[in-house]
Amino acid sequence: ALPAPFSAPLGVPPVLAPVRQDADTDYYRVTMRESTTEVVPGLRSPVWGYEGIAPGPTIRAVQGRKVVARFVNELPATHPQWGYAPWTSVHLHGSASLPQHDGYASDITNPGQYKDYRYPNWQPARTLWYHDHGAHHTAENVYMGLAGLYLLTDPLEQSLPLPKGEFDVPLVVTDHMFTTDGVPLLNIVEGKGAWGDVVAVNGRAWPVLRVKRRKYRFRILNASISRSYRWSFSDGTPMTVVATDAGLVPSPTVVRDFRHSSAERYEVVVDFSRHRPGQRVVLRNISPPKNVDYARTGTVMAFDVVDDPFPTTDNAVPDVLFPEQPAMNVPEGAALRTRRFRLHRQNGLWKINGTTWDDVVRSGFRKVLADPRLDDVEVWELVNESGGWFHPVHIHFVDFRVLSRNGLPPAPHECGGKDVVYLGPAETVRVLVKFERGRGRYMMHCHNLVHEDHDMMAQFEIVDPAV
Ligand code: C2O
Ligand code: CU
Repeated sequence: ALPAPFSAPLGVPPVLAPVRQDADTDYYRVTMRESTTEVVPGLRSPVWGYEGIAPGPTIRAVQGRKVVARFVNELPATHPQWGYAPWTSVHLHGSASLPQHDGYASDITNPGQYKDYRYPNWQPARTLWYHDHGAHHTAENVYMGLAGLYLLTDPLEQSLPLPKGEFDVPLVVTDHMFTTDGVPLLNIVEGKGAWGDVVAVNGRAWPVLRVKRRKYRFRILNASISRSYRWSFSDGTPMTVVATDAGLVPSPTVVRDFRHSSAERYEVVVDFSRHRPGQRVVLRNISPPKNVDYARTGTVMAFDVVDDPFPTTDNAVPDVLFPEQPAMNVPEGAALRTRRFRLHRQNGLWKINGTTWDDVVRSGFRKVLADPRLDDVEVWELVNESGGWFHPVHIHFVDFRVLSRNGLPPAPHECGGKDVVYLGPAETVRVLVKFERGRGRYMMHCHNLVHEDHDMMAQFEIVDPAV
């Protein structure tokens, strides 16, 4: 039986303290271990969390200061129900990390081992997340809880009067399914994805947040294995989109609802100042096509408006946020070539241009689907040839701009720097990418983690310009 909705208060993941700091670097230690939690109030279930919690602790980074994080794998040698050995690889999603620190799927850390990851933090302020990326077991590992937030800030973001502190709230959305004794079930439907009947925010099913009568900034991360959502408020309250995957958008956009596929980050400012004290507003999910829905998956969380006093500073959305947003300022005319990537299914495996991750491994990691030169601008055309399925396509290392979807302009909420784009049934999406400030091989893949694991993942290589 499902719990009464809105019975648990929304929790916010704790901020992790560095173990050490020097002139230009913050050092962290994060241990992956098994613990228990109550996603559903009253139902104890096992969790594999960074520091034993899910979502993991939030890492706060400042532009210009590096981070070195030691990720220690202290997970059990095998999964108690699913039997596999949990090798791990940690990817900081949204970071322009060097290849050897990017959480390469086959660069694995076995239980009992650790790896130090270096993060450069030269990018503009943004909401990133760290999550597992171990080859063929990413879905299980992330579903067990291996995901956490990493918030990068910069002077521009700090200077804006956007809501801050307790009014800047992360919402990490996941879906789950449990047996009656609390054992997690990964409900994979025909290899197409895994959908749960419980929706959780920050690790609690259908929570409630008490909100004061002012503006809030919500950083929404869809950390679900496969599910995509379309958010809307029960009373039609508008949401002002202020940031996307790659941080602040050039100028804000007001929407009443928007679609959000896995791994995307959208940040919205919501104004509760015109609500009555005592009023309850429910965040709903109008499910996009091709998800598996259950009785309660159309409801996400509630906001209870209270009359408490609040500070009136940092309570605005300026008309101009980040006009120099790099990904949004690359002219389409600068593109030197167009490459086409077909996402399809063949012999039960998900593929990109006929390639699987196993093909990449068998080639000794030499097989690349594209070899853009450093500083080149290219159009990447993502073509969904897999019938009725949708794919959130993620390109590592770069930020891009969505040019078009089936020849039409992208949705208003997508008009910002992106690193994941929703590719719907029978869609072709064109994105504009500039390959700058790095070289080497990076992954691109579907972020439906069931597809990624079997085996819709390939790599590209940023190469030196010809001399
Ligand atoms: Cu969020 Cu390659 O992943
Ligand atoms: Cu996919």
